[in-house]
Amino acid sequence: MAGADGGIGTAMVAALDESGMFTRVLGLTRGGEAPLDLNDERSIAAAARQVAETGLPLRLMFAATGFLHDGEMQPERSLRDVSPAHMAKAFAVNAIGPALLLKHFLPLLPRTSKAVFAVLSAKVGSIGDNRLGGWHSYRASKAALNQIVRTASIELARTRPDAICVALHPGTVDTPLSAPFAKRGLALRAPDDAARQIVGVIAGLTPRNNGAFLGYRGSELPW
Ligand SMILES: NC(=O)c1ccc[n+]([C@@H]2O[C@H](COP(=O)([O-])OP(=O)(O)OC[C@H]3O[C@@H](n4cnc5c(N)ncnc54)[C@H](OP(=O)(O)O)[C@@H]3O)[C@@H](O)[C@H]2O)c1
Repeated sequence: MAGADGGIGTAMVAALDESGMFTRVLGLTRGGEAPLDLNDERSIAAAARQVAETGLPLRLMFAATGFLHDGEMQPERSLRDVSPAHMAKAFAVNAIGPALLLKHFLPLLPRTSKAVFAVLSAKVGSIGDNRLGGWHSYRASKAALNQIVRTASIELARTRPDAICVALHPGTVDTPLSAPFAKRGLALRAPDDAARQIVGVIAGLTPRNNGAFLGYRGSELPW
């Protein structure tokens, strides 16, 4: 699990433990003993080696990482707000980093039997569903992520027909990422509830879902 100390990531570690579906849940974070930083490919490769060295088959790789805002950068309201630095950071964390996770972790999935690589995307990244505009960097980086997942899924199916690679939308969840927007009347769900629903979706995945963009109830979302 990458991003194991985020709002949803923390709840996912607990929900995966509670599910009893896995022998061991390993939380990877940027600040941990073996730090996984999406901006540093060597740290991603080292984390993958650490997982391989456990000797346990990797049944699930879950990425709960992501970037929407920080102290300096807020989602854009208009094209006037677009900056190269903001867009570069969004793409680095939301698209390029997960592409590197796919590069280093997909080869660890077993060649036979069900195994899942799931990454948290966002419905806001859906091009077909975009009716409000704004949030250019986040939307575009999540749309790129969805394409990266879809592309990886096709390659994955060639060597691991039972494996599944998906992008998941967790819904609007009460975390530091969504906090600044909560006051604008968004209905927020508790991270524990969201995590339990996501674990349910993962449990129900079949190879038919490989390459899909799914909501937290397991239904397909428009690209
Ligand atoms: N919350 C929502 O309503 C919502 C809605 C739709 C989609 N999502 C998606 O769900 C995912 C998780 O969101 P969240 O709400 O749990 O956000 P969060 O609480 O802000 O957690 C974000 C996580 O990403 C990690 N991260 C950021 N940059 C990183 C980097 N360079 N290297 C490694 N880890 C990095 C953070 O680690 P640090 O602690 O080290 O910063 C943290 O663990 C995101 O992809 C988000 O886009 C959330």
